[in-house]
Amino acid sequence: MKILRCMAQWRELRASLSGRIGFVPTMGALHQGHLSLLQASATDNDLTVLSIYVNATQFNDPNDFAKYPSTLEDDLAQAEAAGVDVVLLPDYEQMYADGFRYQLTENEFSTQLCGTDRPGHFTGVLTVVMKLLNLVRADRAYFGLKDYQQYTLIRDMCATFFMSTEIVGCNIVREADGLALSSRNRLLGLEARQLAGRFPRLLAEAASDEQACLSLQAAGMQVAYVKSVGQRRCGAVVVGEGTDAVRLIDNVPLDRPFDGRKVKEVHA
Ligand code: PAF
Repeated sequence: MKILRCMAQWRELRASLSGRIGFVPTMGALHQGHLSLLQASATDNDLTVLSIYVNATQFNDPNDFAKYPSTLEDDLAQAEAAGVDVVLLPDYEQMYADGFRYQLTENEFSTQLCGTDRPGHFTGVLTVVMKLLNLVRADRAYFGLKDYQQYTLIRDMCATFFMSTEIVGCNIVREADGLALSSRNRLLGLEARQLAGRFPRLLAEAASDEQACLSLQAAGMQVAYVKSVGQRRCGAVVVGEGTDAVRLIDNVPLDRPFDGRKVKEVHA
């Protein structure tokens, strides 16, 4: 496995590569959800490229950025075991040589759901993903459907700008109690972790978005939003108090019963 910090070196290497390339962009703190993306990439492609880059421009809250878990050594060991061919570890200076003067903004869907209380978040996400996709020039890039709004915005951005990388949405991976895997789960205290396990089921089992909101609040979660988008109910909650508060997002299918760990989503 090659580990590259210098993107000029990567571009040189890229020019010499042939075969189908799969790309999994991440912010590190890898877990089974990321590993499932890497697995999908390894199955579909000849080479898999993983990027680990905690993208400052998508954090509207500097505390959230400061708290974001960093587990590089462990990530590299997991990447190697998962058969990753190249790991890219760019830094801010390389990713934002323009000082973030150039930005990619979507004006509709990105202002709803997570966009309501995270101003600028999706501009940061779309800008960095556009840069990463242009750098890697992969045949396919893999994103988890837990971040359903992010996945849709990225998929539509690629279509809008005639980008040639195919965007593949992958199944949500869940813990035994249904909690969707997320790098942020590491930040949950014991009590908050127990409460978080109730989030997907309460989201799924309510008769309406309003009912889901009330049930989540009654359970002790702070609700940022609950909103159905097509056949999916999306939600964001905060569990835990003060500096230990952790924001979690999830979405569940409305056209079939929620079955906890065995959630099957169709690759979009
Ligand atoms: O989902 C993430 O981890 C990030 O938003 C992404 C897509 C790697 C962009 O920084």
